Amino acid sequence: MSTPHNHAEKGQIAERILLPGDPLRAKFIAENFLDHAELYTSVRNVLGYTGSYKGVPVSVQGTGMGMPSISIYVSELISEYGCRKLIRVGTCGALAKDLHIRDVVIAQAATTDSSMPTNIFGTSINFAPIADFDLLRTAYEKTKALGIPVRVGNVLSQDRFYDDEINFTKLMNYGVLAAEMEAAALYLIAQKYHVQALALFTVSDHITMDEAPSTVEERQTSFESMIRIALETVIE
Ligand code: HPA
Repeated sequence: MSTPHNHAEKGQIAERILLPGDPLRAKFIAENFLDHAELYTSVRNVLGYTGSYKGVPVSVQGTGMGMPSISIYVSELISEYGCRKLIRVGTCGALAKDLHIRDVVIAQAATTDSSMPTNIFGTSINFAPIADFDLLRTAYEKTKALGIPVRVGNVLSQDRFYDDEINFTKLMNYGVLAAEMEAAALYLIAQKYHVQALALFTVSDHITMDEAPSTVEERQTSFESMIRIALETVIE
């Protein structure tokens, strides 16, 4: 049995899965970090692979950009394929002044302007999509052990990348560390199904300060450190 968006058969996807937005990053992770990785879906070129990491079955699948896209993949991964530990690996734009390009951000919670929480809970409840505490603690400890600068806190999952209305300064003043586009939906759906989810990011650009973008090589190195952290966390 497959879905309209995923041609894997039941049993082909591991309970533990990494979720990059970019399908080619899924391919890169499968080919460079997993043992015996095999492609299980390529519907719409959204690639998904299952292999193993340190002997533990692990999958990796692209989710596309934005909350509507990741919602489709994550809902099916959980409800149809039995995924139980899901870690998004992505990039974010920094808001906090003491964050720098290449730093790692762990989303403890995800504030959002998406209508998804309101559609579910109505307007009288502002539901707080939050990370799984055990995954969060493990990822934090692994990052620290690698000596990589890391911040844990609130992120903004924004609905529009090109958004002239959003007040980043206010969000920053309320302690929101960075902006990205998927974590709130991932956390919301994981909480619905009582499974574990976490979102990890490397800072790719700075929204509130002028900071020279990292080189392609630097981006690759920080991306690879984040993948290592995510894999070490997901197999615990
Ligand atoms: N906004 C949203 N998502 C992002 C950004 C950003 O500035 N940078 C990287 N992903």
